[in-house]
Amino acid sequence: MLELFCGIGGLRSGLAAALGGSAGFTVVKAIDLSPDAARTYTANYGDRVDQVNIATIGAQAFDSYEASLWLMSPPCQPYTVQGPQRDAADPRADALRHLTEVLGQMKRPPKMIFLENVAAFEQSESLKALLAALVSAGYAVEQFILSPIQFDIPNSRLRYYLLATLDSGGSGSVAATARLLPDRCKPLADSSTSRTCASRTIAEFLDPDLVTADWLLPEKVVGKHSAVLDVITAQFQRSCCFTAGYSKRYKGAGSVLRTVAVTEAEEPAVASAIKAGVSAQYTESHANMQLRWLSPREVLNLHCFGPEFKFPANLSRKQQYKLIGNSINVRCVERLLCRLLEQQEDGTEADQPQRKRARTEQNAQPSNDTAEE
Ligand SMILES: C[S@@+](CC[C@H](N)C(=O)[O-])C[C@H]1O[C@@H](n2cnc3c(N)ncnc32)[C@H](O)[C@@H]1O
Repeated sequence: MLELFCGIGGLRSGLAAALGGSAGFTVVKAIDLSPDAARTYTANYGDRVDQVNIATIGAQAFDSYEASLWLMSPPCQPYTVQGPQRDAADPRADALRHLTEVLGQMKRPPKMIFLENVAAFEQSESLKALLAALVSAGYAVEQFILSPIQFDIPNSRLRYYLLATLDSGGSGSVAATARLLPDRCKPLADSSTSRTCASRTIAEFLDPDLVTADWLLPEKVVGKHSAVLDVITAQFQRSCCFTAGYSKRYKGAGSVLRTVAVTEAEEPAVASAIKAGVSAQYTESHANMQLRWLSPREVLNLHCFGPEFKFPANLSRKQQYKLIGNSINVRCVERLLCRLLEQQEDGTEADQPQRKRARTEQNAQPSNDTAEE
């Protein structure tokens, strides 16, 4: 396996979960420019990370790795709805463009490719170019947009996933984007948004040993940003997407936890908000709620990283949130990789009836995606 843009190794963790342990694969190379990500990766998995710019690695070198599976989460900044969405014109899209070109030049391209990005990537020029390259190299491609909440994890993180299998003798194909993984997850209540709820509560993901006082939002911050905070309680069955800016930004960066109990008067409204999977309207002022951040460990729990996952000493909280916010949900990846690996075993023709096969030009047309990230 080759792990590109490896970050803290969320994709690798998903692969280990899909295979029932890390004994089932070898990492021929893990590559990422970030020293913090590299240190964290090595501390957890032992493998060294090559801290090089992927855009500088040639097709010959990729051939020499002889990896049958590529896992990658290219930078999402060129596509995220929280940014200027410069798409392929953003220099941070260069490495993916380079990989797109490399795939067409390789003598021994990988049998399988798994890619993750923000949902808005589906509408990008970068993806259009990648799909065209994959089809011309003979890959059968499936695309999904899914959120962990569909896998009963109380967290929204709507993401685009691409599964490509080298279709030996096939002419290459791209299936229309699906918002459901057959037999493995439930549909979103409203397909245009990830506002829905899991059956599991946030309480299951909290750290029982955490000292609340260490994680409280400063009074000033609560006063200033009260209107944009997404306040949840331990009984909630949803939370917002945790981004790299969690604890630094307040709007749309992730939920904060109310530690003071809901009052009797508030209970009916809060209970119905929980049931509906939407934000609650509290009557108490945020200033009286003792709001706290979820700790990095708790966000890792929501991202389904195992309890053994640790950050190296001397990484600040903000650095940890940044790495986790850039990472992925291990459960979603696990389920999708199970599908990719099964398809490789079965041969790419096995799933024909479920695939609406079509040429790239037709399928590159994006669906409307206005959902939160
Ligand atoms: C979305 S994050 C990866 C998330 C990863 N899957 C995880 O589980 O943490 C993208 C990563 O790409 C790295 N990166 C960005 N541009 C790169 C480049 N040109 N070459 C190598 N790494 C790069 C960043 O440092 C960042 O860690």
